Amino acid sequence: MMASKIIDEDVKNIAAGIGTNAGKLSGKTLLITGGAGFLGNYFLLTIEFLNKNVLEKPCRAISADNFITGVSYRVKEGPNFKAIKHDVKEPLKVEEDIDYLIHLAGIASPRFYRKYKIETIDVGTLGTKNMLELAKEKNVKSMLFFSSSEVYGDPEPKFVPTPEGYNGNVSCIGPRSNYDESKRLGETFCRAYFEMHKVPVKMIRPFNIYGPGMRMDDYRVIPNFVAKIFNGEPIPVYGEGDNTRTFCYVSDAMTGFFKVLLADNLNGEPFNVGNEDNEISMENLAKVMAEIFDNKVQIEKTSGLNDAYTTGDPKRRCPELTKIRKLGYEPKVDLKTGIKRFIEWAIEEYKIKSPLVKSLRTT
Ligand SMILES: NC(=O)c1ccc[n+]([C@@H]2O[C@H](COP(=O)([O-])OP(=O)(O)OC[C@H]3O[C@@H](n4cnc5c(N)ncnc54)[C@H](O)[C@@H]3O)[C@@H](O)[C@H]2O)c1
Repeated sequence: MMASKIIDEDVKNIAAGIGTNAGKLSGKTLLITGGAGFLGNYFLLTIEFLNKNVLEKPCRAISADNFITGVSYRVKEGPNFKAIKHDVKEPLKVEEDIDYLIHLAGIASPRFYRKYKIETIDVGTLGTKNMLELAKEKNVKSMLFFSSSEVYGDPEPKFVPTPEGYNGNVSCIGPRSNYDESKRLGETFCRAYFEMHKVPVKMIRPFNIYGPGMRMDDYRVIPNFVAKIFNGEPIPVYGEGDNTRTFCYVSDAMTGFFKVLLADNLNGEPFNVGNEDNEISMENLAKVMAEIFDNKVQIEKTSGLNDAYTTGDPKRRCPELTKIRKLGYEPKVDLKTGIKRFIEWAIEEYKIKSPLVKSLRTT
């Protein structure tokens, strides 16, 4: 995998957003699960940057990933980074002390969680329980569990923007249930381990985080649209295209994740992380994409890849962010800027030669 100017800039911005709190990681060991995925690589690159530029003593990172969807690490193994191939549905034995634990492993894209239905449930539930056991055994200072905004299911209109206190409107047998319900039970495990064993775990509910490093074939909407455009195909809008999402650029979200990881006294609590300014329907998102390419691409209404994109697709998704704002979180990257950064990265990473590269509007 190539070095990337865009990712380097993102990582620098994330480190700046964490600020002096980063010092808490000096000389510590952090275990991450799912480190070979999109967000995992950003965590590892941020630790690498902090080690080089900020911390007095390096923070050592260990990642456990089974590569079910992860592709590779952007950080090389060495004294400060160890990679373990492991499926977290099985207990994990680690010799070292662990100070911080980030349980990111999950099967996040509807394309893959419809394919790996049972593995998705296992990683959200058994995987979470195993990581909570490890956090308890190692007496960690802080743990994050990556839940999802999907715990809210299809919220009733009066609960959009959605606060953490909303209990959700989720089917236990619908097309998205294996993902949604496993995250919900994962959170229940977290709360129980906090209440029974004082494990200092926080639950993160990300709202559509996107950016460089997402797989182009994973069917999450932004990489999917860009992949189709560069394949010379129309932008596919599933169904009516009036369902909305809020998109949060990865550098903003990562800053929020670190703020929660390094905060004191918030244990057992869920936190929304996203960007409420960027709520947009899928049809309008396709129009924004087309504009970025100087309207040289078509938009086509079509049916989704599977039922998670049609009957199971929630109508609106928008976070209430009051809680995390209290930690100084403030998303900065607007949608167009973030999408352009993703596209620029994809062109560089995949050496894209499509004639549309020339139509890309940079202003
Ligand atoms: N990106 C988002 O917008 C978003 C939104 C909501 C929730 N999340 C959650 O955040 C986490 C990370 O998301 P991402 O976008 O980086 O996803 P990703 O698919 O890019 O990365 C997930 C990683 O977890 C690994 N993994 C899956 N099952 C595993 C298992 N049993 N054992 C070990 N490793 C396993 C995969 O191989 C992959 O490397 C996931 O848990 C996801 O559900 C992400």
